[in-house]
Amino acid sequence: MNKKFLKNIICLSLISILGMSMIACGKKGESEKVTDKKKIVVGTSADYPPYEFHKIIDGKDTVVGFDIEIAKEIAKDLGADLEINEMKFDGLLAAISTKKVDMVLAGMNPTPERSKSVDFSNIYYTADHSVMVKKENKYKFKDKSSFKGVKVGVQKGSIQENLAKEQLEGADLKMLGKVTELILDLQNNKVDAIVVETPVAKAYADKNKDIDITGVTFNINKEEQGSAVAVAKGNEELKKSINKTLDRLIKEGKIDEFVVNANKLVE
Ligand code: ARG
Repeated sequence: MNKKFLKNIICLSLISILGMSMIACGKKGESEKVTDKKKIVVGTSADYPPYEFHKIIDGKDTVVGFDIEIAKEIAKDLGADLEINEMKFDGLLAAISTKKVDMVLAGMNPTPERSKSVDFSNIYYTADHSVMVKKENKYKFKDKSSFKGVKVGVQKGSIQENLAKEQLEGADLKMLGKVTELILDLQNNKVDAIVVETPVAKAYADKNKDIDITGVTFNINKEEQGSAVAVAKGNEELKKSINKTLDRLIKEGKIDEFVVNANKLVE
């Protein structure tokens, strides 16, 4: 009887010590404001020129693009250093949830499905979607009905997965993690077409003389046209600060300038 009593007391005190330390942890987390952070980590998939891509600058492999310039401005306004964490596009949302990154800039559309797991800033840029093909095949693909049985590459986890599935009738979809892998597949005739945002198709076609863009267009919902910054669900403070930076950049005409400069870096 006595022993049991003692056991209970020990148990209870252990539970309360645990509880107290959890409260302490919680408090520490809360007081660590976004604005106190010295470093902000952006997650991206740098295979999407002019949004984000790799470029050798002064002999160093660097991630550049207009999303990166915007991310730098967001960091600057927060008084923080920017760190870039690159991964496959389909891993970006999980990286926010697991706190590997604070925000995502990856030409990402704020779809209702994604909004279930993350919050989005206001839209900072809008674009349509296009189909890239080998130059010699350009005129084989006249409209959306030209894709029956055709191998169409899309980036895994992108909205182009659905666009191709729903609008390119009978297409045989191939999903890969990186757009750069899709481009290699197109050049090696392993896929016959790739769906990406129009500025990206233009950038790849400019850089690769064997690639061209078809005249095929897509019907798109409004939310599938714009890019927004993703943050952790409920992180109102960071979202507010990001929206303030975006407002400023839009007002100053900086985003258009960043797009022009990023396109110049794509050679
Ligand atoms: N806009 C498309 C989406 O949100 C594709 C974006 C791909 N971005 C990238 N950096 N690869 O699904």
